[in-house]
Amino acid sequence: MQVFRIKGSFTSLDEKVSALFELGARGLEEKSAEVWAYFPERVELALPGEWQELPDTDWLEAWKRDLQPVKAGPFVVLAPWHSWDGDELRIQLEPGMAFGTGHHQTTRMALEELAQQVKPGMRVLDLGTGSGILAIGAEMLGAEAVGLDTDAAVIPQAEDNARANGVSASFWVGGLDSLPGLSGTAQGPFDLLVANLYAELHLELAQEYTRILGTCGTAILTGILVERGDLVKEAMLLAGFTLLSERQDGDWLLQAYSKR
Ligand SMILES: C[S@@+](CC[C@H](N)C(=O)[O-])C[C@H]1O[C@@H](n2cnc3c(N)ncnc32)[C@H](O)[C@@H]1O
Repeated sequence: MQVFRIKGSFTSLDEKVSALFELGARGLEEKSAEVWAYFPERVELALPGEWQELPDTDWLEAWKRDLQPVKAGPFVVLAPWHSWDGDELRIQLEPGMAFGTGHHQTTRMALEELAQQVKPGMRVLDLGTGSGILAIGAEMLGAEAVGLDTDAAVIPQAEDNARANGVSASFWVGGLDSLPGLSGTAQGPFDLLVANLYAELHLELAQEYTRILGTCGTAILTGILVERGDLVKEAMLLAGFTLLSERQDGDWLLQAYSKR
């Protein structure tokens, strides 16, 4: 196991945390003023930090032990070994392997916004599904959800997580361009899109978002750093959307839009 050590905390390195997962990190840990990113092997990283080789022992177990349940809107996100007495809707996830444990602000805001927007029977697309957490949350609210991710490695985990939560979301490898090749209702159109990606990708995909949504569809976009919020807004307005609401948590924004 290889660890990449960067000076800072989850908060100060927020922007880089998603990038590390996208570059193949299997887990992240805060340790005495550093963030440790665990990789199966060394990768090219344009970040200031240093590599260290660790014995393949129990790093994942140690990281998991420190995880706490996370509340988001009507949900609580739990690891299989957590117990919980509250009335929240429980999303149980096996943490550590794919982005989406509920510990990132963007995931939490997305769960809160899904609770505001999803109505039973809606068809929901979770673009960039990672652990499947948002598709699972949408299904618990009564939607029929499809999860898409360009990283094939996360799909079996999302499927296992959906099974463990007793929901029947379907998960597929690919981006929006792969939708026409999917079977049946997974092709869309959708009533609601939720996408926890990053601002530049939302700019690129804004026109596509219009195409995959049905009349009056809703788009929930997050993974947007505060300083890039206006750029996403401009692109979405140009693509035919109206801004419904905006949330902020730390350096991160979530924007909800309605198709005009
Ligand atoms: C920040 S994670 C979000 C995970 C989860 N949805 C959440 O909210 O916690 C982003 C995910 O998007 C995937 N991804 C990146 N670019 C994509 C694209 N163009 N289309 C689909 N998925 C993409 C990544 O592989 C990663 O799993």
